[in-house]
Amino acid sequence: MTSRTLSMAVLAVAACTAHSVLAQERPGLLSAGDYADGTLGAAQQPARMDVQPGSVYRVGKWPTYTADLAPGKGHDAVMGNCSMCHSVTYITMQPPLPAGTWKAEVHKMIAVMGAPIQPATEEEIVAYLQEHYTPSTRKP
Ligand code: HEC
Repeated sequence: MTSRTLSMAVLAVAACTAHSVLAQERPGLLSAGDYADGTLGAAQQPARMDVQPGSVYRVGKWPTYTADLAPGKGHDAVMGNCSMCHSVTYITMQPPLPAGTWKAEVHKMIAVMGAPIQPATEEEIVAYLQEHYTPSTRKP
């Protein structure tokens, strides 16, 4: 052991001693080893994985496909206007939405998200979504 590592070890021992004294003086101050075995809060984490050399990981399928939307009047308007910022899969990802919700949703895309869609096209899109994607009209 060099004199430098020796003096560092002495310092470390001194620091530990000082810390124990401090912990005794200030009840409630926690340091390593003071924690109870049980969980301190509600958060539970999965057990650590036992990683072995040669372990194989698999990544789930990422939904990068573009959904096939129902054919019909308004289909092209939706494909052209609703895929500028995200995939039209956002439409089929939703549960079947009531007609009024689709109207509000399309309007939100324009008023909040900034979709450059003219009022006539907005109506056509809303009509299309209401005709194919509500609880009573959506096909599986
Ligand atoms: C100007 C960009 C833009 C356009 C164009 C656009 N959206 Fe969105 N859309 C967004 C953003 C931003 C979000 C929310 C962020 C996210 O979840 O990725 C979103 C989210 C959605 C969602 C998920 C639910 C929600 O409200 O967050 C749906 C459904 C949706 N858009 C439908 C549409 C439809 C239908 C159209 C065509 C009328 C459209 N979008 C056009 C930007 C846009």
